[in-house]
Amino acid sequence: MDLFSTPAPENAVQRVAELTQLIDHYNYEYYMNDKSLVSDFEFDALLRELIELESQYPELALPTSPTKRVGGEINKTFRQVEHRFPMLSLGNTYSMEEIEEFEMRTRKLLDGVPFTYTCELKYDGVAIGLTYKHGELVQAVTRGNGAVGDDITDNARTIPTIPLKLKGNYPDDFEARGEVVYPFDAFEAMNKLREAEGDEPFANPRNAASGSLKLQNSAECAKRKLMFCMYFMMLPEDENAQGDYATHYGRLQAAKEMGFKVQPYIKECKGINEIKSFIDFWDKERWNLPFGIDGVVIKVNQTTLWNSLGMTAKSPRWAIAYKFKAERVSTPLLEVSYQVGRTGVVTPVANMEPVWLGGTTVRRATLCNADYMAKLDIHEGDYLLVEKGGEIIPKIVGIDMDQRKPDAPVLQYTQVCPVCGTPLVRADGEAGYYCPNQDGCLPQLLGHLEHFVGRKAMNIDSLGSERLKLLYDAGLVKNVADLYDLERNQLIGLESNPTETAKTSIQEKGADNILKALEVSKEVPFERVLFALGIRYVGEVGAKKLARYFGNIDALMEANVMELAMVDDIGDVTAMAIYDYFANAEHKAIVERLRNAGLQMQVVDNRISNVLDGMTIVVSGVFEHFSREEIKNTIEQHGGKASGSISGKTTYLLAGAKMGPEKLKKAEKLGVKIISEQDFMAMIGK
Ligand code: IVH
Repeated sequence: MDLFSTPAPENAVQRVAELTQLIDHYNYEYYMNDKSLVSDFEFDALLRELIELESQYPELALPTSPTKRVGGEINKTFRQVEHRFPMLSLGNTYSMEEIEEFEMRTRKLLDGVPFTYTCELKYDGVAIGLTYKHGELVQAVTRGNGAVGDDITDNARTIPTIPLKLKGNYPDDFEARGEVVYPFDAFEAMNKLREAEGDEPFANPRNAASGSLKLQNSAECAKRKLMFCMYFMMLPEDENAQGDYATHYGRLQAAKEMGFKVQPYIKECKGINEIKSFIDFWDKERWNLPFGIDGVVIKVNQTTLWNSLGMTAKSPRWAIAYKFKAERVSTPLLEVSYQVGRTGVVTPVANMEPVWLGGTTVRRATLCNADYMAKLDIHEGDYLLVEKGGEIIPKIVGIDMDQRKPDAPVLQYTQVCPVCGTPLVRADGEAGYYCPNQDGCLPQLLGHLEHFVGRKAMNIDSLGSERLKLLYDAGLVKNVADLYDLERNQLIGLESNPTETAKTSIQEKGADNILKALEVSKEVPFERVLFALGIRYVGEVGAKKLARYFGNIDALMEANVMELAMVDDIGDVTAMAIYDYFANAEHKAIVERLRNAGLQMQVVDNRISNVLDGMTIVVSGVFEHFSREEIKNTIEQHGGKASGSISGKTTYLLAGAKMGPEKLKKAEKLGVKIISEQDFMAMIGK
C-alpha cells in the first residue's frame, strides 16, 4: 500500500464488500449450478463498478476479488515451485483383468477390514494443485515433473470453477487437486476463432488447456472458458482423518460445499461387479459428456486406510486408473479428395462410407500428407481403420488388410492442384506437396490477403476473411496492393452471393472503417510490412532481422542469395525463397504500388546511443520500469542485442524479480556477469 495515499472512505470499503459478495454469488450460481440470476448487462455493470472502485482505491483490491477473474496480470516467466507433497501419478491399465487383480489384491492387503471403493471419471486435461490457506487461494501449480511445477496462479484465478475464497467450513491449510479441462463447445469455438485469425488450431482440448494455462497474459486465459474438475483433497494426516474427511467421497462432497466444482459422476462401489458396471457404463456414455475423459479412476474410499496400503515405486496402492481403449471401426474408402490450404499446402482427405464412431457419424478424416499416405500404403477399394480416442477428432490408423482385394492397385497421389490444376511440387525434406501458384490459386490468394491484414502484419481488423472474399468476388481485390485503391463508393452496398455459407455485406459505416484502417496501416513499421508480404518461410522474426540488416526494401530486393543467407536466422532455403519472390516481376510491381500508396518501406532509425554496441544481453524475470518487450527494445535502441538464451557469447544476464533458477545456474556456470535493472539503467544513463 502507498503510505501517503489517503485511506479509502468507509462507503467505498462497504460498497466493495457488497459488490464482491454479489458478484461472487452470481458467479457461483452461474458456473456451479447453471443458473443465471441477472442479465449479462447487469452483471457487467456491477463488475465494472468494482473494477473502477479497486482502481481508485488499490488497497481494496484483494487477490481474491472477482475482478481477478478477468485477468490482466502479465507473467513474463512462470516461476518454478516445488510441490509441498509430490504430485503422484496412478498405475493405469487397459485391461479389466488387471482391475480384477487390483480389487483382489486390495481386499487381501486389507485383510478383513471393512472398506468400499469410489469410481469416478478420469478427466482428460492438465493436472494442477491449488493451495488454500485460511480459505483463500494462494497458489496454483501445474504437475510438472511431479516434484516441481510452474506457478500459474494468475491464470488459475481466471477459471470460474476455481473458488478464490471458500465458503462454510474448510481445513485451514490444504491442497485441492484436479484437472483443468477444455469443454468441447468452448474448444471448438476457440479453434474456429484461431483459424479465422490465421493462428494454428490446437490439436485437441488437452493441448489447448495446457497451452492456455501457460499464456503470459491472464486476460487471454480468462477468455478461454476452461473448467476445473476437482478429484482429490490433500490433507497431511490421512490415517487420522475424521468425519467427512475420513472418506474420499466425503472429502469431495465437503469440497462441493466449499465452492468447488465436483462432478456428480462419482459412485461409491462395494466390489468388482459394481466397479465393472461403472466402467462399462462410462465407456459408452463418455461421448455424451461436454468434456473429454480417457478412463475411470478407482480409489479406496476410506482415506484412513491409504497409508497402510502404501505405495509402489511411483504410485499409490489404493488407487488405479482404467483407461478406455480407443474405439476403432473399419469402413470402405470411397475417394481421396485434396484440400489446398492458405499457404498452398495440399492435404489429402479420406471420404469414407459413413460410420458410427464414438457418438458421431464419421464421413471424412485427414490423411495428413503424402508421406503418411505412403506409409499407410492405401490400395484402391481398401477399408480404412478409423479410431477415436479421448479426443473428438477421428484418426485413420491403418488399413483393414482382411478386406484388401487381390491385385488392387496402389492409390496414386494427385499430381496437380485440385483448385487451379498447377503441377504440385515438393520441397526437399517436406512430408507433403504444395501448389506453387501462389498468386493465382484461390485459397492461397485469399489466404495471402488474410495474412496481409492479420493482427501481426498490417492489422486491418475491419477486413475479415468474409469481407476479403466479398472484395475478391466483386473483382475489386486480387492482390494486396489492390486494397489501397479501394474507394468508398465501390465498397458501400457490397453483399455476398446468396450461395455463400458465410454471408456479409458492407454499409457506409463498414466502408469508412475499412478505409480508416487502411490509412492507419500506412504507419505500420517496415519489418511488419515485410512480414505481411507473406514470402514463404519469412516469419515475424525473420522479417525483423531482414529489415534491420538491409534497412530498406530496395537493398533487400537487390540482394543475392548469398547476401540474404548472411542474415542471422535466414537459412539457404529461406534465402532462396526471398530471392525467388523478388525475381518475380508481378511481386516487384506490387511492392511498387504499396510504396506509392504510402506504406513504410524502410526502417526508421530509433537508435538512442551506442553504449551497448557489441553486447548481447539476456533478459530474465520481471522488471519495475519496463515490460519485457520494452526492455528488449531499449537494449536495441542503445546498440545491444537482446537474446533469449544464455551462451558463451552472452555479455550480461539482466536479472529481474522472479527470475527462473535455471537461467541463474547457467549464468553462474558460464561465468556470465549478472546485472540488475538499476545497473542497466545506470549503463544507459537513465
Ligand atoms: S487421482 C494420487 N482422480 O490422471 C492420485 N487422477 O496418473 C491422484 N486424473 O495425471 C490422482 N482424473 O491428473 C485422480 N478422477 C481422477 C483423475 C485423475 C484425471 C489424472 C491425474 C494424473 C493421472 C493419473
